[in-house]
Amino acid sequence: MKWTAAKIKALKGQRKIAMVTAYDALTAALVDDAGIPTILVGDSLGMTVLGYETTLPVSMEEMLHHASAVARGTRNALVIADMPFMSYQPSVALALENAGRFLKEAHADAVKLEGGAMRGEMIEALVKNGIPVVGHIGLTPQSVKEMGGYRVQGKTPEQARQLMDDAMAVEQAGAFAIVLECVPAELGEMISNALTIPTIGIGAGAGCDGQVLVFTDLLGMSGKPAPRFVKKYATLHPLIAEALSAYRSDVEDGSFPSEEHTY
Ligand code: KIV
Repeated sequence: MKWTAAKIKALKGQRKIAMVTAYDALTAALVDDAGIPTILVGDSLGMTVLGYETTLPVSMEEMLHHASAVARGTRNALVIADMPFMSYQPSVALALENAGRFLKEAHADAVKLEGGAMRGEMIEALVKNGIPVVGHIGLTPQSVKEMGGYRVQGKTPEQARQLMDDAMAVEQAGAFAIVLECVPAELGEMISNALTIPTIGIGAGAGCDGQVLVFTDLLGMSGKPAPRFVKKYATLHPLIAEALSAYRSDVEDGSFPSEEHTY
């Protein structure tokens, strides 16, 4: 069954929603085959697979390239494409143009963009033009320079109130779901209880309606320390490193290819 934005929205209160990032057809097929209903082509790909320091340099062309591959590798999951830095911030018109490209050219099913109340008009315009939208508030990595680092958000009562208002505004504008990143668990739960759309948490506690993790974090692929909110379901980095070293030494000592790998 192909998941749609409406079906995902209807899961609120029925069951928890799993989301994982994927960046190409191979990783998308793995996520899809596990029955995970939502795939995020996160701009985190800038850091996880393209080698950038932050998500800021990621371009529309790079996102379209990866989102197309993900869509080709997916049968059932809802494919959500992340709008990269400066592909939507300058104007509603630019947001419409670029979000439209994700659906027309990459065959994504929905887009995600960062920001709360300030994006209300933009989200409304996208939804009115047939583009399902996921909001994203709390720690918004595209604002890392302004935030001064990757820090937990909403710790003071004023910040918590602002995030609650932002979440309400995103729902009001027509988003079908919202990502809450790095906020205290109590706030994650309060926002989840106040909204009628699903909240998808990452470092936002168990009270959210769903959870998202980055593919390479979940599988322990990077070999670098992961944030506290990550649960590693496998530790692939040392296994891959070991396999590659074994291959190198087999080639160097002539034991590969052997008879069985030779025509
Ligand atoms: O880019 C990304 O992968 C994200 C998730 C961390 C929510 O935005």
